[in-house]
Amino acid sequence: MKKLARIGVLTGGGDCPGLNAVIRVVTKTAINKLGLEVLGIEDGFLGLIRNRMHPLTIPDVSNILHLGGTILGTSNKANPAHFATGKDADGKPVFEDVTDRVLEHVHEREIDALICIGGDGTMSGAANLVRHGIPCIGVPKTIDNDLMHTDLTFGFSTAVQTATECIDRIRTTAASHHRVMIVELMGRNAGWLTMSAGLASGADVILIPEIPYDLDSICQTCEGRSKRGKRYTIIAVSEGARPHGGQQVVSKVVHDSPDPIRLGGVAKVLAEEIAARSGLECRATNLGHVQRGGTPIAFDRVLATRFGHQAIQMLAMSDGINKLAVIEEGRLGMAPIEEVADQQRLMQADDPLIATARALDTCLGD
Ligand code: F6P
Repeated sequence: MKKLARIGVLTGGGDCPGLNAVIRVVTKTAINKLGLEVLGIEDGFLGLIRNRMHPLTIPDVSNILHLGGTILGTSNKANPAHFATGKDADGKPVFEDVTDRVLEHVHEREIDALICIGGDGTMSGAANLVRHGIPCIGVPKTIDNDLMHTDLTFGFSTAVQTATECIDRIRTTAASHHRVMIVELMGRNAGWLTMSAGLASGADVILIPEIPYDLDSICQTCEGRSKRGKRYTIIAVSEGARPHGGQQVVSKVVHDSPDPIRLGGVAKVLAEEIAARSGLECRATNLGHVQRGGTPIAFDRVLATRFGHQAIQMLAMSDGINKLAVIEEGRLGMAPIEEVADQQRLMQADDPLIATARALDTCLGD
């Protein structure tokens, strides 16, 4: 690889707490330790497609460590290989490969390498650029914690904390009104967030996408609790959960997104079904984007900072290019970006978190 002089940094996909912590450490260490210039690319890959980027200096990244969101902006619709450029006569989006535009802008701006902070969709965008000869380094973010090759993504632990606090608040209403309270969490097709927040908040029922649920089993748990004098039940359900032989609930189809399905609404469906079958009073709460917002907890600030530092160190390693910074069994490492692109790391049946929930007699819906 040619000697580095200037790098670009972008944040792609859904925002999450800790993005600014990565931007800060990447910018500071690239400038101070490697003598590089840093360009901040606006709104993820959209900034590369539209040639929107600006220099990042040390003052630009001062006082942002604790801030949620991303000072660079993001987009979860801008994969250059599959980008909606317009609409056809029926109003359907027309997708084109606009990678050439990106390559032109990367060369025009003299960017020698890109730091791509994101999830599997962002790594798919990065893998495409790698195939076109642009050196990339990935940093793993997502509240879903579903990236391959890493035990943890930054943002996840803050989302677990936020969701746990929300469920704690819902518990007081559940207890006061003797209700079944069904709380829906994000996570797409992975149950990490729901399982972790469910365990942390002592949920009585935890439903995740990896374990299809049976309504009878859930109702038995709620009714059994009632009979034993526990007059309320907390159910933590993942947006991707589905009944045996049934489908996930889709809240929205974002037609101009490369990954168009948005899940959501299963808590409401469950509330109606459980009420109809058991006669118990049920309420549904969808925690939604609250889970992605707010200031990162200290753990995520440290993890994001370690990942960003690792990414800059990887720039200087002969085998560090075109890899994702990862953490496995507490140790930082790296994995090929193309092995992470468009892949999802789901919970396995023998996961220790699932075993722990079962040991507590938590109903997992099966
Ligand atoms: O991947 C992060 C995530 O928050 C998922 O948990 C959720 O399914 C999705 O993004 C929501 O996307 P959007 O912000 O486009 O509604």
